[in-house]
Amino acid sequence: MQTMARIQVSTHDSEQDSRNEHILIYVDGKLVPKQEAVVSVYDSGFMLGDGVWEGLRVHGGVFAFLEEHLDRLYESAKAIDLDIGMNRETLTQALYKTVRANDMTEDAHIRLMVTRGRKKAPFQDPRLSIFGPTIVIIPEFKRAGEEMVQRGLRLYTVPVIRGLPMSQDPKLNSHSKLNCIMALIHALKAGADEALMLDVHGFVNTTNSTNFFIVRKGEVWTSTGDYCMNGITRRKVIELCRENDIPVFERNYSLVDSLGAAEAFVTGTFGGVTPVVEIDGRQIGEGKAGPMYWRLKGLYKELIVRHIST
Ligand SMILES: Cc1ncc(COP(=O)(O)O)c(C=O)c1O
Repeated sequence: MQTMARIQVSTHDSEQDSRNEHILIYVDGKLVPKQEAVVSVYDSGFMLGDGVWEGLRVHGGVFAFLEEHLDRLYESAKAIDLDIGMNRETLTQALYKTVRANDMTEDAHIRLMVTRGRKKAPFQDPRLSIFGPTIVIIPEFKRAGEEMVQRGLRLYTVPVIRGLPMSQDPKLNSHSKLNCIMALIHALKAGADEALMLDVHGFVNTTNSTNFFIVRKGEVWTSTGDYCMNGITRRKVIELCRENDIPVFERNYSLVDSLGAAEAFVTGTFGGVTPVVEIDGRQIGEGKAGPMYWRLKGLYKELIVRHIST
């Protein structure tokens, strides 16, 4: 089957920025030029996807919602029994040292990665990672393009589901994103931009890289949260709804509810709130960002301004 010939976009699309060719990357305590920033082929992250990570954003020289990101990172590390080897204060210093060395105060996206470190032999046993964790901080100038909002996202429902927590808990921001990548491949082959993923019961859950919401009769619905990433933006949007008397529900709902929704949108640290205009070839609502989208986008923007000025 041929894939549909149309332009595909991503929630991570950003304007080209030549400054990214000259960034300094933090690798285990040292700031090194991008071209020299490497880890060992024996690294647990490279070899086995054995690590955890966070995607953060800098606004006005400040890491937005840093405490929440660190909470999630340390919680994930504890769950996989990975000793980060640095406390929150030292890790925070490393993050600020990295963005300051790169003169980044705005439109910066930072990927903080912690793996179980170099192994003495190529095998999964965590006891072989005897050299301590590997910590890498990649800071990039990444401004979300406004075209994404104008154009909106097209989703495609895929057969790859969000699994049960006793296999690989979907709440873990693990280095191995194979489940999400396989989901995205299905969606891309179908000509869509991102994958809409169901949970083990067939309820609509999330996308491969963002959290998913629908709007029906003035109410905002998102999944129960059981099988998706505990997204920080997701939580902020839910809190904003509550603070602003917008009815919001974390509940089970199906594809029928989603296809018939007045609006749909996704949330994530990079893009904030992004409209969804199509699911499985069906237009959602008016096929463009709707009034609830604009309201929540505005509230989220204000929240960030308030957050960085405190
Ligand atoms: C699968 C998945 N869903 C959702 C998110 C969005 O989470 P956040 O809002 O914390 O960026 C991420 C981000 O890492 C993710 O990997």
